[in-house]
This record gives sequence, structure tokens and C-alpha cells, in this order.
Amino acid sequence: TVKMILDVDTGIDDALAVAYAAASPEIDLLGITVSYGMAPVDYTFRNTSVILESLKHNIPVYKGADKPLRRAKEYGGEFHGMDGLGETLGEITSVPDYGKSAVDFIIEQAHLHKQDLTIVTTGPLTNLAQAIVKDPAIVDMVGRVVTMGGAVMTPGNASKFAEANIIIDPEAAELVFKTELPITLVSLDVTRKTLLTAEDVLRWREKGTEVGAFFADFTEFYLKEYKKYHPYLKGCALHDPLAVGVAKNPALVRTIPMFIKVDLEEDALGRTTEDLYRTHPNEPTSHICIQVEAEQFMDDFFGLVEKSMGE
Ligand code: BDR
Ligand code: CA
Repeated sequence: TVKMILDVDTGIDDALAVAYAAASPEIDLLGITVSYGMAPVDYTFRNTSVILESLKHNIPVYKGADKPLRRAKEYGGEFHGMDGLGETLGEITSVPDYGKSAVDFIIEQAHLHKQDLTIVTTGPLTNLAQAIVKDPAIVDMVGRVVTMGGAVMTPGNASKFAEANIIIDPEAAELVFKTELPITLVSLDVTRKTLLTAEDVLRWREKGTEVGAFFADFTEFYLKEYKKYHPYLKGCALHDPLAVGVAKNPALVRTIPMFIKVDLEEDALGRTTEDLYRTHPNEPTSHICIQVEAEQFMDDFFGLVEKSMGE
């Protein structure tokens, strides 16, 4: 099994990634760390906890960053709704006692599991960047990092060049990519090929369970938003679940090694490119995905998530 921390900013496809990871027998989900991103961090924490409860999983959730390292963040509700889950849960009225921080959990688990630990990130890289700043030794400990983010060969989705998770906190991404962490970048280049359709989501609703209807409600919101921007696509991209899929089964993707760089100049802010000028004695430890076995992934994702919604 893969010992995993999932770092999310839940977010509709993050919710699907949580459901998928928790339902995967090949994954030992140690905990979920959350940050701001698609909604403020109190919301992403609440959303993640509600998703886990709805599926009857008892997995701890740890609260992380509430803003980017050096920038401000505004929320517009695009794609995920103002509550982060397609307006299915609405406003928060109270916040829980959060306990251990996401950063401390990441550091603790890196020391405990070392090379056996896989970290999957599906939001901005702020939590991971803060963990590295607090304890740089974790860079040599962690076995693998799988990051949903970036757009190397295709256009961005948050600007002409940049993907959302990277442009939200480009300084955090640059800090993480500059290290020698063994990163697999699951970018828009491959996530745009794994599409969930309206017919798929209808199957969740037709299960007739409460959790099936809940998942159908928020995913239909995402499908509708997708149609606005990409009317020619057959469905919505499963960005975040694909990162979980690649962590489970690296053979799902073809990769090439690359020193990844994040543009910090305003006119190309957040673009992920190759660092051609990086002088380094070693080979890159990062890889970018260039091809994906989309059908194989979709079968595994859909099968496990649908089953977890009960009969
Ligand atoms: C990423 O941004 C968010 O909208 C999604 O949850 C995903 O993590 C895709 O660019
Ligand atoms: Ca996300």
C-alpha cells in the first residue's frame, strides 16, 4: 500500500480526489491537510470533513495555510461556488477546534515514514512550502510528491499561461520545485484528457442514496461551469483525482525528467516551464507527465467512487 498524505483545497474535484483516495484499497490515507484555495481554509476544512463523514471514513483532517506566502487571495466562486462545493453546503456558522497544524503533520509524518511517504497535492503549494521552510530536512526524506498543477505544453486555465494551483501561490510553487523533492507534475497537459461526463454523474444520482445525490449535486455545478468556459468538451476534467491515480499507479502516465521553473514575472506569472539555466550536478528529480492512460484511470476512479456511494 501507498502511505499517503493528501493536501487539498476542497474544491469539487478535490472532493472527488478525497473520495477516490479513501476508497482505494492500495492507499493508506494517513491524513488530509487542507489550505485555502478554491475557498477560504475554514471552508475547505469543513468541506473535506463533510465529504469524509458522508462516506463514513474516519480520517483526520489538519488545517493549513489561510493565504499565499506573499500575496493576497480573493474568492470569486468560479467553478466551485462560494462555499467551494457548488453551493451545496453554504456559509459556515462556526469553526471547530483545529488541533495540530497541517505543516506540523506533514513534518511529523515525513520523519516517521521517510521514503515510504507519498504526498499528493491538489491545491496551491503553500502548505508544502511552509513545511520545507520549517524543516528543510524533509526534502531528503519524503519518497514521492505527486502534484496536480501547471501547464507545460498546453495553455493555462487561470491565465493564458498559468494553471490555477500554481498562479495562486507562485512563490510557494517555485520554492517547492527548486528543491530536490522527487516530484511528478500532473499538469493540465494530462488532466484535460480525463473527463467525467453528465451521464457518469447521473449514475451517481440514480443510485438513490443520499451520498450519491450529494456528490451528483456538487459535481453538476462543476459540469455547468465547465460548459460555460469549454462548451466543446464532453465533460469536466478530473484534475485532482488523476494526481491520486498517478500516486497509486505510476504506470498510468508517461513522464520525462525536467527541472521545473515557475515564472514570477508579471506578464507570464505562474507559468511552468523548463529551467534551462539550472546548473546542477545531478539529474532532475522532477518529472512532468506527457501522456495518460485515460480510460484505465477513469475505470478505476469511477468504479471505486461509485461503489463507495452505497447501494
Ligand atoms: C486545479 O484548480 C482547481 O480548480 C482544481 O481543484 C484543481 O486543483 C485545476 O487547475
Ligand atoms: Ca484543487
